Amino acid sequence: MSLLDSINKDNLPKHLAIIMDGNGRWAKQKGFLRAFGHENGTKSVRKTVEACAKLGVENLTLYAFSTENWNRPKLEVETLMRLLVNSLKGELKTLQENNIKLNSIGNLELLPKSIQTELKDVIEKTKDNSRMTLTLALSYGSREELLNVVKKVSDKVKNNIISIEAIDESIINQHLYTHNLPDVDLLIRTSGEHRISNFLLWQIAYAELFFTDVLWPDFKEEHLYEAIISYQKRERRFGKTSEQIKK
Ligand code: IPE
Ligand code: IPE
Ligand code: MG
Repeated sequence: MSLLDSINKDNLPKHLAIIMDGNGRWAKQKGFLRAFGHENGTKSVRKTVEACAKLGVENLTLYAFSTENWNRPKLEVETLMRLLVNSLKGELKTLQENNIKLNSIGNLELLPKSIQTELKDVIEKTKDNSRMTLTLALSYGSREELLNVVKKVSDKVKNNIISIEAIDESIINQHLYTHNLPDVDLLIRTSGEHRISNFLLWQIAYAELFFTDVLWPDFKEEHLYEAIISYQKRERRFGKTSEQIKK
């Protein structure tokens, strides 16, 4: 039986998030510049997006560029931005063919104008697609996102739009960049690093975590299936006892 056949289609993560890490090391191991790793990483993105859509994953969120990544050498940041515009231009067809809607989260105003325009264009053109929502986290940092929530909610309190007593989890959710997405069920990180790196801190509160040593440019469908199979073997208790869950 193939890995794909072992997946239970009725128990897929509703929201899968991936920290795509290891492009630089992949290139270095082969004696190439880091940029070559990023280029090859885009191939893994395409494969993963298509595989998730085919499986029936409703929401896929990819960490493509963090607020902290702005501190990388200027040339590397430029390469990443260039790859991003090219991918957006090139992948519109794939998104349409697979009925995928594009979404983005992060401090998008910091991105070069050309990317902002391209992003808006692809988001607009795919807005009626309904099979899967693909969210790109760009210039994204969870602490910045949460700071913005605090500011927006405080402003509403100050202007008597909501009372302090009314602030609950759903109010926080409504003010996050991810307001239209469910909580993350499964978070995958490649490249052997066991950390979250400022990604979706609120949204992963009860996510299952899957770490793999595979470097992102080597990430193939089989690795995705492996992660989902591992997810499906776990008992998600949400604080309850195993007996309560089984009832
Ligand atoms: C992930 O690969 C891509 C981004 C963070 C943009 P890295 O570039 O972090 O690769 P490593 O971790 O240095 O190998
Ligand atoms: C996390 O990877 C960000 C992205 C994958 C976009 P990094 O490579 O930037 O993470 P750290 O700095 O090693 O934690
Ligand atoms: Mg890295």
